Amino acid sequence: MYSCIGLAVVLLLGCGVLQSDATVAEVLDENNKTCIYAEMMVNFTVQYETSNSTPSTAEFVLPTNVTTAGSICGNETVAPFLKISFGNGHYWSINFTHSNTSYHGDVFIFGYNVSDSTIFHNASQKGVIKVVANDTMPPVPMDHYYRCMSDDVFKQGNVTQTFWNVSIQAYIKDGNRSKDATVCSADTPTTVAPVTNITTVAPVTNITTVAPVTNITTVAPTATPKPTPTPKPDKETYKVSRGNETCLIITMGLQLNYSTTAQAPWKVKNIEPNVTTASGACGGNTSTIILNERDTVYLVFSFVTRSSKTFYLKGVNVTTVVNGSAQQLGINNNLSYWEATLGSSYMCNKDQVFKVTDKLYINTYDLRVQPFNVTNGKYSTAEDCSSDKENYIVPIAVGVALAVLVIIVLVAYLIGRSQKHSAGYEQF
Ligand SMILES: *[C@@H]1O[C@H](CO)[C@@H](O)[C@H](O)[C@H]1NC(C)=O
Ligand SMILES: *[C@@H]1O[C@H](CO)[C@@H](O)[C@H](O)[C@H]1NC(C)=O
Ligand SMILES: *[C@@H]1O[C@H](CO)[C@@H](O)[C@H](O)[C@H]1NC(C)=O
Ligand SMILES: *[C@@H]1O[C@H](CO)[C@@H](O)[C@H](O)[C@H]1NC(C)=O
Ligand SMILES: *[C@@H]1O[C@H](CO)[C@@H](O)[C@H](O)[C@H]1NC(C)=O
Ligand SMILES: *[C@@H]1O[C@H](CO)[C@@H](O)[C@H](O)[C@H]1NC(C)=O
Ligand SMILES: *[C@@H]1O[C@H](CO)[C@@H](O)[C@H](O)[C@H]1NC(C)=O
Ligand SMILES: *[C@@H]1O[C@H](CO)[C@@H](O)[C@H](O)[C@H]1NC(C)=O
Ligand SMILES: *[C@@H]1O[C@H](CO)[C@@H](O)[C@H](O)[C@H]1NC(C)=O
Repeated sequence: MYSCIGLAVVLLLGCGVLQSDATVAEVLDENNKTCIYAEMMVNFTVQYETSNSTPSTAEFVLPTNVTTAGSICGNETVAPFLKISFGNGHYWSINFTHSNTSYHGDVFIFGYNVSDSTIFHNASQKGVIKVVANDTMPPVPMDHYYRCMSDDVFKQGNVTQTFWNVSIQAYIKDGNRSKDATVCSADTPTTVAPVTNITTVAPVTNITTVAPVTNITTVAPTATPKPTPTPKPDKETYKVSRGNETCLIITMGLQLNYSTTAQAPWKVKNIEPNVTTASGACGGNTSTIILNERDTVYLVFSFVTRSSKTFYLKGVNVTTVVNGSAQQLGINNNLSYWEATLGSSYMCNKDQVFKVTDKLYINTYDLRVQPFNVTNGKYSTAEDCSSDKENYIVPIAVGVALAVLVIIVLVAYLIGRSQKHSAGYEQF
C-alpha cells in the first residue's frame, strides 16, 4: 500500500487516428494494478508572442501517445497525482484530494513548452509555461468514476482548454475500475423537465398526508411571521440508483445557512430543485448522495449503518465554486443525525436545523430519507423524528386523562351506590 510508484505506461490506441480516439492514461502501483485511470479528449488553444511582434495562436490536441511518468498512486499521507506528458515537453496534471467518502480533482496544471517549434513557430519566449486551474470537477463518491462526455471549456488568459469524452477515476481499489459513474450536469438531461417528473412520484405525496403532523407544520409559519423573509426552499425528491434500481431516496426542502469568515454576516441560501441534479453511490454500509446545483454548489451527504440495526447521517460536505475556484463552506464526518431502523425511512416534517460546523447549518423542511434497503424505488415505513412523536403525546395524554376521569367517576358512582345500599339495609 505504501510504496505506490507511478509507472510510465505508453498507450497507443487506434493506430494513429488521432481525433476520434480518447487519450488513455493509466497509473499502475507496484503490483502492476491500476490505481488511477483517465480517458479524455482535449483541445488546447494557446496564444503566444512571436519574434515578429504579432502574436500567434497554436492549436493542438492531446495525442493518444502519452506517458504517465511522475504520477503517484497515493496513500495515507500522499495524495494521488496524475501527470500526462506528451509531445516535446508538454504535460497536463491533476492532483486529487478526498474526504472519507468522496474525492475530487483539486488542481490541474497545463504546462506547454514554447520551445517546441513544431507547435509554437517563431515563439519569442522559451521554456515551459504553466497554467494552473482549480478544478471544477465535482466530488465523486469513492469507488466511482467521473464522466463528462459534453464539452467543458476552461479559459485562462492566453490558454483555452476544451475537454470532452472524459472519464476519470482515482483511488481505484485492487486495480478494479468502477462501473458506477458520477456524471457531470451537462450530460444529464437539462433542468426543468426531468425534475418535474420526479416530483410527481405518487408515493411521496401519499406518505406526507400524515394528518396531525401536516396540521402542526401549517400552523407554525402563520403564527411566527419572520422579520427576514427568506422563502421556504422548494421540496424535492432526489434519487440515487445502483444499476437500474433506486437505492437511496431523499425528499426535502433544503436551505444552507453559512458564514464564510468570522466577520461575514450569515447568508441563507435555498437549494433550487429545478437546477439541481443528484448522483451518488450505494454500498452495504455506506451510501452517499451528491447534490449539484448549477455546478456551483455541491452537497455530499454520507449515510452509514450502526451495528447492522440502524442508519444515520454521518457526513456532510458543502463546497461552492466561485469563478472557477472551489471554496469549502463546511465539512463534518462525525455527525449523528437522522437515525432510523434499517429497512425503514427517517421522516421529520418539522422544520429542522442541523449544525454541520460553527460556520454552516443546514435547514430541512419536510424531510424524508431512506439510504439503505430501498425496494421498488419507494420509501418503506417511516420512523418519525422524536419532535414529531412529541406532538402525538398531547392527544394521548388527553385520552389517558379522560379515561382516568371516567374510571374515577365510575368508581365514585359505584362507591356511592354501595353506600346507599348498605344505608338502606340499616334502615330496614
Ligand atoms: C470517446 O472516446 C471513445 C474511445 O476512444 C471513442 O470511441 C469515441 O468516438 C469518443 N467519442 C467522442 C464523442 O469523441
Ligand atoms: C478540437 O480541435 C479540432 C481541430 O483542432 C476541431 O476540429 C474540433 O472541432 C475541436 N473540438 C472541440 C470539441 O473543440
Ligand atoms: C500535486 O502533487 C504533486 C505530487 O505529490 C506535488 O508535487 C504538487 O506540489 C501538487 N500540486 C499542488 C498544486 O498541490
Ligand atoms: C517565422 O518567422 C519567419 C521570419 O521571421 C517567417 O518567414 C515565417 O513565416 C514565420 N513563421 C510563422 C509560422 O509565423
Ligand atoms: C434491471 O436490470 C436487470 C438486468 O440488467 C433486469 O433483469 C431487471 O428487470 C431490471 N429491473 C428493472 C426494474 O428494470
Ligand atoms: C443562521 O444562523 C445564524 C447563527 O446561528 C442564526 O442567527 C440565524 O437565525 C440563522 N438563520 C436561518 C434562516 O436559519
Ligand atoms: C427555479 O425555481 C425558482 C423558484 O421556484 C425560480 O425562481 C426559477 O426561475 C426557476 N429556474 C428555472 C431555470 O426554472
Ligand atoms: C467573478 O469574476 C468576475 C469577473 O472576473 C468578477 O466581476 C466577480 O466579482 C467575481 N466574483 C467573485 C465572487 O469573485
Ligand atoms: C475518516 O474515517 C476514520 C475512521 O473511520 C476517522 O478516524 C477519520 O476521522 C475520518 N476522517 C474524517 C475527515 O472525518
